[in-house]
Amino acid sequence: MSQLDPEVAAATDALTAEVLASFDQAPERLRTLTQALVRHLHDFVRETDLSEAEWRFAIDFLTRAGHITTDTRQEFILLSDTLGVSSLVDILTNSRTPDSTPSAVLGPFYVAGPPEVPHGTDVSGGDLPGEPTHADITVTDTEGRPVAGAVVDVWQANEDGFYDVQLPEVEGPVLRARLHTDDQGHLDFWTILPAPYPIPDDGPVGQMLAATGRHPMRAPHVHFMIAAPGRHTLVTQLFVEGGEHLDSDTVFGVKAPIIVPFPVQDGPPPEGAPTRAADGWRRLVFTFQLAGEPA
Ligand code: BEZ
Ligand code: FE
Repeated sequence: MSQLDPEVAAATDALTAEVLASFDQAPERLRTLTQALVRHLHDFVRETDLSEAEWRFAIDFLTRAGHITTDTRQEFILLSDTLGVSSLVDILTNSRTPDSTPSAVLGPFYVAGPPEVPHGTDVSGGDLPGEPTHADITVTDTEGRPVAGAVVDVWQANEDGFYDVQLPEVEGPVLRARLHTDDQGHLDFWTILPAPYPIPDDGPVGQMLAATGRHPMRAPHVHFMIAAPGRHTLVTQLFVEGGEHLDSDTVFGVKAPIIVPFPVQDGPPPEGAPTRAADGWRRLVFTFQLAGEPA
């Protein structure tokens, strides 16, 4: 923007100082957060020379994001994700446990308390379109020692790119489950090869993406949340090596160490495989490393 008239600049600085001072008595962390927020917001308005019409548009945008948000549709998470804020928080969080498997954004489709299933279960229910995929998962600590009894929640979209909670006609959980590692820190399950999919883009966030020439696609992935006593809970995703949009994931969630091969297998599927795996199957093998809780 052009330089502000010195008198206007002084007036804006005085206003910012007054607003900052209004938070001086807040508890320490709250004061840090509110004052930094005010400083950055005020600088944003100054730097962009924001007009009243643009500010009203922004308020209307947030209002529409609120109106479209329900128990199963969280537009503010989508906004945070597509602005890269979720991944920024995630990078900082991850930097505190650098030896563990990298984390990745939770996303809006996690449902707490998924159905507990035994090892070898086909979490697709056995009749969803998609390439059968056997997931062979191990959980260790950062020294490579097995973590027994870890609670592992997995969830993913179907071949058309929808989670069960997005489909009113689907009753109950599909493509989501909870498993526990055995004494060797191991578990396995069957699923389908994850497909790329668009984040919900029929609301204000979708309009923002379209208006700015961005696509709404996520690179194909399976979500994991892994919890064990004395360990940091790991929320992450495994991305399909060679999948679409790995370099332009719309929520900036991809990290190299969690891009994993899901190779087509030549041999017959293992015992207990879903019947349709006889026509072809893939395999995912991965070891998650969990950091310890700070002493
Ligand atoms: C997901 O991976 O489920 C997701 C993440 C961010 C936004 C939308 C969906
Ligand atoms: Fe997802």
